[in-house]
Amino acid sequence: MAKNDPPDRYAVIGHPVDHSRSPLIHTLFARQTHQNLTYELIDAEPKDFETAVRGFAAAGGKGVNVTVPHKEAAFALVDDVGEPAKAAGAVNTITFRAGHLRGDNTDGIGLIRDLTVNEHVTLADRRVLVLGAGGAARGIVGPLLAAKPAELVIANRTKTRADDLVAQFHSPAGVGTATFEELASLAPFDVLLNATSAGLKGEAPPFPGSLVGPGSVCYDLVYSLKDTPFVAWARENGAARALQGWGMLVEQAAEAFFIWRGVRPDTRPILRQLVR
Ligand code: ATR
Repeated sequence: MAKNDPPDRYAVIGHPVDHSRSPLIHTLFARQTHQNLTYELIDAEPKDFETAVRGFAAAGGKGVNVTVPHKEAAFALVDDVGEPAKAAGAVNTITFRAGHLRGDNTDGIGLIRDLTVNEHVTLADRRVLVLGAGGAARGIVGPLLAAKPAELVIANRTKTRADDLVAQFHSPAGVGTATFEELASLAPFDVLLNATSAGLKGEAPPFPGSLVGPGSVCYDLVYSLKDTPFVAWARENGAARALQGWGMLVEQAAEAFFIWRGVRPDTRPILRQLVR
């Protein structure tokens, strides 16, 4: 790209979207890696989602991130998808290529990278519990299975939803489902991942405290500047570590940035700057 070329345009589309950290994160990535781009916020109601995406592409945009509540609509809209997006049935990154819409999902890889690279958490041969079986859980099960845990249990208030999720991965060995009540009879897990939206609604985590042992790592996919309800619950129950999803947020963004620009930013300074 010549020095005086106009910047390439990207955006995040959601509803509501005004609190999104994505513009800040991608602007910091661009500055760090000397990429000439801008990153905008687009608030679109579900009925306007497709028009917003196609309009941004027609106006010369290069790609968009997609956030709540549009990830499933994005999956339906794009012309082709990567494997993680296919497994998740959801897309969080769209790349515009000559009238063609490519969909990817970087949430799962973002979580795995934050856990294993940033936080040095081992998943291989460990007992891993996913709490929740909605959209957020669907995005992480494939990448978690790829990390080869000894056991993966998906627990959900509505058990049939957990069963459906596991069936989608052809019910591999070592993978089970449970209700929260059924979890009470199980030994503490090594890694517990909260993918429910209970905390977002201010509801206390409805999980048995016996799931947490002194060696457990608890991770909330949700993030907040103070302790999330799940993080507070994990601490109260004696978890070795209680983490929240800031790192996942930055890592999924870095993966999207890599898809778009072919450059991998150093996420550490950006993560520090965000949670400061
Ligand atoms: P998301 O995309 O955030 O995952 P979702 O698809 O609506 O949103 O899924 C929300 C998840 O949080 C589900 O697993 C849901 O459980 P159900 O499938 O039984 O509805 C879970 N959830 C929401 N509120 C909850 C609560 N108060 N207690 C326990 N689980 C809750």
